[in-house]
Amino acid sequence: MTDTVPRAETDEAGALPEDVILRVNHLVKEFPINRGVFFKKQVGAVHAVSGVSFQVKRGETVGLVGESGCGKSTTARSILRLLEPTSGEVWFQGQSEDGTVDAPVDVAGADREILRNLRRELQIVFQDPYASLNPRMTVASIVAEPMTVHDIGTQADRLERVKHLLQIVGLSPEHTNRYPHEFSGGQRQRIGVARALALNPQFMVLDEPVSALDVSIQAQVLNLMQDLQDEFGLTYLFIAHDLSVVRHISDRVAVMYLGKIVEMTDRDALYDRPMHPYTHALLSAVPIPDPSIESTRKRIILEGDIPSPSSPPPGCRFNTRCPKAEAGKCDVEEPPLSELEPGHWVACHFPEVVQVV
Ligand SMILES: Nc1ncnc2c1ncn2[C@@H]1O[C@H](COP(=O)(O)OP(=O)(O)OP(=O)(O)O)[C@@H](O)[C@H]1O
Ligand code: SF4
Ligand SMILES: [Mg+2]
Repeated sequence: MTDTVPRAETDEAGALPEDVILRVNHLVKEFPINRGVFFKKQVGAVHAVSGVSFQVKRGETVGLVGESGCGKSTTARSILRLLEPTSGEVWFQGQSEDGTVDAPVDVAGADREILRNLRRELQIVFQDPYASLNPRMTVASIVAEPMTVHDIGTQADRLERVKHLLQIVGLSPEHTNRYPHEFSGGQRQRIGVARALALNPQFMVLDEPVSALDVSIQAQVLNLMQDLQDEFGLTYLFIAHDLSVVRHISDRVAVMYLGKIVEMTDRDALYDRPMHPYTHALLSAVPIPDPSIESTRKRIILEGDIPSPSSPPPGCRFNTRCPKAEAGKCDVEEPPLSELEPGHWVACHFPEVVQVV
């Protein structure tokens, strides 16, 4: 297999550069499809994540973008071991309080005890603030839960910390005894953020944290996330289904299609010099505030539906919808993710810079 990890050539897994906090190597997650009532037999698999590799530097935000069902959440949950990866490695290289860099640990292969410690460092904020908070728990018990699970502090200590966390995320510390239904969507998402911060994590997955919120509230939550990142030196993997949300918050962006990363590069390079036909289509759908440009712009409309991840097309997975696909090549040979410019990775047989925005 071609080594498709966006990284310096000299690096080996287990010997990461100091500035790398997370390296994902050939991550695969398949969900078995079973048939039969009594004797369950596996008749196929959903290929949700098919060999995803990338790395994240300490303190940066990497945006992970792609249409619904392309495997973003499954990638994130497999990284955090909320789902068991089918195969692959997830190297996490944390930092001690004195600033020294710890030895990397493979989250995907970690045993229960190591995983328990890793969970303190790796947290997630979910998309739906209505579904992700237990309606029968008070705000105090929701935010304190990670500390309770990890047996940290006395009850009084935890309550103090909850009040402090509520303040940090812009909520009143007086509201500890309220229930989730007493809050708006934006406020609930802040509660979810407070809970994720409770154990002082180093790395956070933000899985579409603002998609369920009103547009007017989205910017407030995004600003909060950026302030928290600066204040606590957090590293983010920020998931979104379109490129407009990640533009402002990401340092680098990875574009996913049907279980694979098809393009990954610095934010500005992705918007100024996109090379993959799928990225071109996604970018052409991002609205531009200037009406004179917007009215003359051509949208790239992709034909057909996304193929089912239980039977992805052979060759390039995008070939059934790609305007540039060439029969005999694209439907036969899978394009490797290659570094075409420094730090700019593209998986396409016919890459080309197209100015879309
Ligand atoms: N527990 C599961 N069992 C079977 N299939 C699953 C499971 N979870 C996800 N899938 C499938 O895996 C694929 C990837 O799903 P995933 O939720 O990761 O996509 P996504 O990019 O996060 O989409 P969205 O933007 O809608 O959140 C989809 O086809 C989905 O139906
Ligand atoms: S490899 Fe072929 S089908 Fe795939 S994106 Fe490139 S041109 Fe399109
Ligand atoms: Mg998702």
